[in-house]
Amino acid sequence: MLLLLLLRLMMLQLPFLLHTFATIAIEIIMSLGEIQLNYYSESCPNAEEIVKDEVIRLYHKHGNTAVSWIRTLFHDCMVKSCDASILLESINGIESEKTSPRNMGMRNFKYINTIKDALERSCPVTVSCADIVALSARDAVVLLGGPRIEMKTGRKDSKESHLAEIDDLLPNHNDSMMYVLSRFQSVGIDVEGTVALLGAHSVGRVHCVNIVDRLYPAVDPTLDPTYAEYLKRRCPHPEPDPNAVEYARNDLQTPMTLDNMYYKNIMNNKGLLLVDQQLVSSPATSSFVENMAANNDYFHEQFSKALLTLSENNPLSEKDGEVRRDCRFVNSD
Ligand code: HEM
Repeated sequence: MLLLLLLRLMMLQLPFLLHTFATIAIEIIMSLGEIQLNYYSESCPNAEEIVKDEVIRLYHKHGNTAVSWIRTLFHDCMVKSCDASILLESINGIESEKTSPRNMGMRNFKYINTIKDALERSCPVTVSCADIVALSARDAVVLLGGPRIEMKTGRKDSKESHLAEIDDLLPNHNDSMMYVLSRFQSVGIDVEGTVALLGAHSVGRVHCVNIVDRLYPAVDPTLDPTYAEYLKRRCPHPEPDPNAVEYARNDLQTPMTLDNMYYKNIMNNKGLLLVDQQLVSSPATSSFVENMAANNDYFHEQFSKALLTLSENNPLSEKDGEVRRDCRFVNSD
């Protein structure tokens, strides 16, 4: 009798229960970033071509833009979400992430606007800045001799900066390898993927402020002595002016190629940053370094996989983000 009563009560409540479940399901779907391959196929069919053309054009004018796009993806996606928060300027209560010491040395932001302007001319307020960050990095990897990576699109742009969280989320160049690995693990990248991603240090430069601790007052014994002499010539002051353009190149042999020379260098004690050198000395990472040094295809394969995972970190949904008109400002500014 009691059971019958309970069943009847449930039947009466069924429409209400179904409605509640449906509402919860819609809420969940809305809160997930819906990224997919060719997201712009109808709204802006040439979006990916436009980005690629601009990235190539900029590369031929200023080769280091390609290097920048790869670092920008890392610094954007590692901090909470691939949401172009890094591109926001300090205005109206927003404190730009660009002011964080962790983002020191980042360059070429102004050319993101060049890419955005080209997109706005064809498809106004359609392609997010977060997707520009992802696609420009993808195209830059190819220009620098790396692999072609299929990337999804449909990320939305944040309406806030995450300056306050950067120190907790973005590893520093002198952090321990265990800490670095745990940071990458928190965004779904394993040890092998972390070793591969650091291979991005096969291109670009490091300012002397990030190197001098390994040179003064005494040279770090894990540095090759001849290489240390070269670094001291590049960085002659123990306390360099942080604004001075004093730097050393990551890879002297193939400075503009995303290749496994990085691993060969660090195995020869020619890593610039402490984090680079630690890849060789840490038992958790050293065997991956050896394998990547021995096989460029294997490095490229692992790099593609890990960069893809990084590029899909926690994309914002329509509900939480927007498509900025100007990558430097939220639309309400
Ligand atoms: C533990 C992880 C990492 C640390 C601590 C780190 C730190 C640094 C530092 C200190 C610099 C030199 C900045 C300067 O002095 O100008 C640098 C440069 C660079 N990093 Fe990383 N990095 C890490 C991982 C990555 C990853 C995962 C990528 C990309 C996938 C990346 C891409 C680059 C590039 C391309 C440059 C050269 C930038 C240029 O020349 O403009 N880094 N990194």
